Amino acid sequence: MKENKILIRQLFDRKSFAYTYLVADTHAGLALLIDPVSEKLSNYIELLAELKLQLRYAVDTHCHADHITALGQLRDITGCETLAGEPSEMTCVDRFFRDRDILQLGSIALRAIYTPGHTDDSYSLFLESEQSIVFTGDTLLIRGTGRTDFQNGSSEALYDSLFDKLLKLPDNTIVFPGHDYQGLKQSTILEERKSNPRLQVKSWQELNDLLGQLKLASPKLMDIAIPANKQCGKTSLPGSGLNFLTEKPI
Ligand SMILES: [Fe+2]
Repeated sequence: MKENKILIRQLFDRKSFAYTYLVADTHAGLALLIDPVSEKLSNYIELLAELKLQLRYAVDTHCHADHITALGQLRDITGCETLAGEPSEMTCVDRFFRDRDILQLGSIALRAIYTPGHTDDSYSLFLESEQSIVFTGDTLLIRGTGRTDFQNGSSEALYDSLFDKLLKLPDNTIVFPGHDYQGLKQSTILEERKSNPRLQVKSWQELNDLLGQLKLASPKLMDIAIPANKQCGKTSLPGSGLNFLTEKPI
């Protein structure tokens, strides 16, 4: 049987309910991390060593408000390239990608899909293969979506990102979200189209009404997390490297 070259690991930070993804081409020995969390840094380094993988890229799907990114620390330790999507205010990154840009990792091609709405710098990453996979950040969650009430969020943009972009992907595409609060790990485009309550709307105004009814509190320390993440996770606060939020931010 032919060995599968694509390795994917879903890693969880239980304080922020955030998922981080390790994607690797095991033949090439190359890996990338999507949405790494500062507090989990040592876990990533250990896992990369165990799997004998060189970290080529560390990528944030958007500037996070609920946890501190590990991008800067990973770059310092591994020499990896750090990336975020335009128009991110994460000016610390080595490179910005745009809609349809390809992130090449050995034989693996990840296509950036600009999916604004949760924030204006939100991207999804699409891996087209025998079994297509999309990493949706906070744009599309399992039976949910990201909120749109800060960081230049827009329910209108989110509606377009969901209906014009993500739901146009093949039905059997696996959805790997940026968070889950119920312990669900993955879904598919078809399953979300049928069962996600926020995808049963007919207009962006309906989606906006649904999101408005949630009356979500702001992430407690977003005023710290966002400025820190604009510097790839560097913060001058005591106890930095912190990952301090235990509430549901989405
Ligand atoms: Fe977010």
